[in-house]
Amino acid sequence: MSAKLPRTTKALVIRKSPPGRSPLFHDAVVQDQPIPALKPGEILVKMGAVAFNHRDLWIRKGMYPRIAIGSTFGSDGAGTVIATADPADPLLKQRVFLTPMRGWESNPDGPESNFGILGGGSFPSLGTFAEYVVVQRAEVIPTPAHLNDEQMAAWPLAGLTAWRSIALAHVSRGKTVLITGIGGGVAILALQICVAMGAAVYVTSGSQEKIDKAVKLGAKGGVRYSEDSWPDALGALLKQHRKQLDAVIDAGGDEIMIKTSQYLKAGGRVVCYGMTAGPTISMTMREVMRGQQLIGTMMGSRADMVAATDFLAQHKIIPVVATVLPGLAAAADGFKTMEKGSQFGKLVIKVGEPSVKANL
Ligand SMILES: NC(=O)c1ccc[n+]([C@@H]2O[C@H](COP(=O)([O-])OP(=O)(O)OC[C@H]3O[C@@H](n4cnc5c(N)ncnc54)[C@H](OP(=O)(O)O)[C@@H]3O)[C@@H](O)[C@H]2O)c1
Repeated sequence: MSAKLPRTTKALVIRKSPPGRSPLFHDAVVQDQPIPALKPGEILVKMGAVAFNHRDLWIRKGMYPRIAIGSTFGSDGAGTVIATADPADPLLKQRVFLTPMRGWESNPDGPESNFGILGGGSFPSLGTFAEYVVVQRAEVIPTPAHLNDEQMAAWPLAGLTAWRSIALAHVSRGKTVLITGIGGGVAILALQICVAMGAAVYVTSGSQEKIDKAVKLGAKGGVRYSEDSWPDALGALLKQHRKQLDAVIDAGGDEIMIKTSQYLKAGGRVVCYGMTAGPTISMTMREVMRGQQLIGTMMGSRADMVAATDFLAQHKIIPVVATVLPGLAAAADGFKTMEKGSQFGKLVIKVGEPSVKANL
C-alpha cells in the first residue's frame, strides 16, 4: 500500500449493552481502527455514503442471529476505489458499491454455502459504516452513472430483496400487485421497479401521507393498514379500477394471506420478506383450495444483484433517500428515526462529512 494511503479508519462498531439496561440495547460507537494491508484480490474503497436497513436496529436490540460485539455496522455502502492489490486493476478510481451478502452466487433456489450479510455479525466480518473498507474486488459492482453515492448506498440490500420478491411474485407488464408497508426501504424500491416494469401497483401504509407519496411514484392507490377494515377498502379500490390482484409483496406477515385472499386471483402468489406485522403467517383452507401460494424470500444472489442493478441503470431508477445524515457520529439520529418509522425512503449517512448533530 502506498505511503499516501490512510492507515486508520473511523468505523461505527457495536458495543455490548451495559449490564442492567432493560430492554437490552447495544451501543453504536465511532472508533478508530487499523486498515489492514491489501492481500491479493483485495481493494480499498473510500466510502462516500452508507445506508441503514431495519436489521441494523434489530441488531442493536439483540434480535438478530450471530451478532458480533465489536464488529462494524452496515450492509450498504458506496464509494470510490482508491487502492488495489494489483496496480493494473481496472477497478482503481472507479465508483462502486459493495455487495451486501456472502455465500450466494447464482443458485436460483437459495445460497450455495454459508450465507451471511455484511454488518454487525461474525460472518462476514465486514461492515460498511466506515470511512475506508478493504474488500475482495469480486464483491463490488460499478455504480451506474446516473446515481451519486448517497443514492447508490440506498440500493443494495433493499434493492436485492425487492428484485427477488418481484421475480418470485411473477410480476411483469400488465400485472396487478399489492405492496404492503410502502414506507419501508424494500417496499419503495419494489414499487419503483414494478412501475418501471409496467405493472399496476397498489399499496398499504400506516400513513396517508406515505400513500400519497407512493402515488406520486406511480402507485394506482392505497389503503391504511392501521384501519381494521383495510381489506374492504382495498376491495372497493380494486373494484373501482376493475382490477384483481395477481400477487402480493409483503413486509408484514401475520394475516396477510387471509386478508388479501378474496382479492387475489386463484393461483396468485404472496411473497413475504418481513415480519413487521407479526412473526407468524396464518392460512386457511380457503387459500389452499384457491391454489394461492405463500412464498418466503431472503435477499438474493450475486447474480440477482447484478441483474437488478442492470435494470436500475437501464430504467434510470433513483432510489428514494429520506434523509442524508452528516457523518458517522450522526448515526444515532438514524437509529432514532428508524425506530419511529416516520421516514419515506432510505436513511443515508454521507461519510466524511463533519459530524454535526442532525436535527431529526
Ligand atoms: N427477507 C429478507 O431478505 C429481508 C430483507 C430486507 C428486510 N427484511 C425485513 O423486512 C422488514 C422491512 O425492512 P425494511 O428495511 O424495508 O424496513 P423499514 O425501512 O424500517 O420499513 C419498515 C416498514 O414496515 C412497514 N410496516 C409496519 N407495520 C406494518 C404492518 N402491520 N403491515 C405491513 N407493513 C408494516 C412500515 O410501513 P409504513 O411506513 O408504510 O407504515 C415500515 O415502513 C424488516 O422486518 C426487515 O428485517 C427482510
